[in-house]
Amino acid sequence: KAFKIAVLPGDGIGPEVTKEAVKVLEAINQQNSTFAIEFKEFEWGSEYYLANGQMMPDDGLDQLKNFDAILFGAVGDKRVPDRVTIWELIMPIRKNFQQYVNMRPIKRLAGIESLLKNEQAIDFMVFRENAEGEYSNIGGRLYEQQSQEMAIQNTVITKQGVERIAKYAFEYAEKHNKSKVTSATKSNAIIHSMKLWDEVVESVAKDYGNIELESNFIDALAAYFVMRPESFEVVVASNLFGDILTDLGAALVGGMGMSPSGNINPEKEFPSMFEAIHGSAPDIAGKGIANPIAQIWSAALMLEHLGRPDLSVAIVKAIEQVIQERNVLTPDLGGTSTTQEVGSAIAEKVKHL
Ligand code: NAI
Ligand code: MG
Repeated sequence: KAFKIAVLPGDGIGPEVTKEAVKVLEAINQQNSTFAIEFKEFEWGSEYYLANGQMMPDDGLDQLKNFDAILFGAVGDKRVPDRVTIWELIMPIRKNFQQYVNMRPIKRLAGIESLLKNEQAIDFMVFRENAEGEYSNIGGRLYEQQSQEMAIQNTVITKQGVERIAKYAFEYAEKHNKSKVTSATKSNAIIHSMKLWDEVVESVAKDYGNIELESNFIDALAAYFVMRPESFEVVVASNLFGDILTDLGAALVGGMGMSPSGNINPEKEFPSMFEAIHGSAPDIAGKGIANPIAQIWSAALMLEHLGRPDLSVAIVKAIEQVIQERNVLTPDLGGTSTTQEVGSAIAEKVKHL
């Protein structure tokens, strides 16, 4: 049976990098008789919004819900407010499909350390809470245009929400023989919501006697990411903290073009969604120089989620080989090649693995 994948290329470099991820998956499809995959593309995003006044059709979620997984590019366009692009496309998918786990590997691939002139091994997993937290649309503006103008934005932290992301992180740690989970907090200053976060994480940790819980304030943790990134194994964080920490983490492993992610619905009741952590990068869109590796790696995470860890490993190996050969790299990694050339090089390698 073929896996059915919904492809949402989106805006800016989204379509450019997604095309290369599909190319690599097609290469495996051709080469490997035990694997079949079908794609259906959805042209939803800012162009669609400018033409139709909405980011996706009214029945958009219905159209997606029977796919095995979603491969998402990025959204963001100067002509449409970010409030619209994010809240009318990505957020409804994440929230309605209960993708409450955002998994973001921070892993420095072989070959990258020499590009960065720093040999440290960095390999940990960040689990970002993806359904509640700071990214809520509860709040509003008061006294607009007056001197006392103010905005209030509420954070929503629920016991059930923290419990399920913390459990997922500890389960992952146990399954992968990790010895420590690091929790990002700020309960010294954010005394209500982050205090509940701490209490729930601590109570979940009690069920995992072999795994140490390290709890760090987010400001200090950001510094530790830079000072001792090799010391982390699994990190669990709220929506906002996880967002910031993983962009910082990306910078440690080669940049935005090197960081994949998965929005996971662990119950598999709905499709999960895979995307590079970067956005639509308007500064380089249309130039053909975006690094497609983050998106190709996201496709690898998708195959792992779909029960093909063997093929996932093969894609990451192919990426590593291309990086180590240093012939075909985009400018962000010091090369002069195009997005398409990097995608083709990885697709070619993966056929021989
Ligand atoms: P961004 O991630 O698009 O770009 C940040 C910087 O990283 C830019 O200098 C860009 O050129 C570089 N970069 C990103 N991806 C790259 C790649 N694959 N290869 C080489 N360089 C790469 O973040 P920014 O500029 O803050 O946001 C741009 C737009 O994207 C905004 O509208 C924002 O809302 C949206 N966005 C969308 C996301 C999504 O669809 N999930 C996530 C983050 C931002
Ligand atoms: Mg981000």
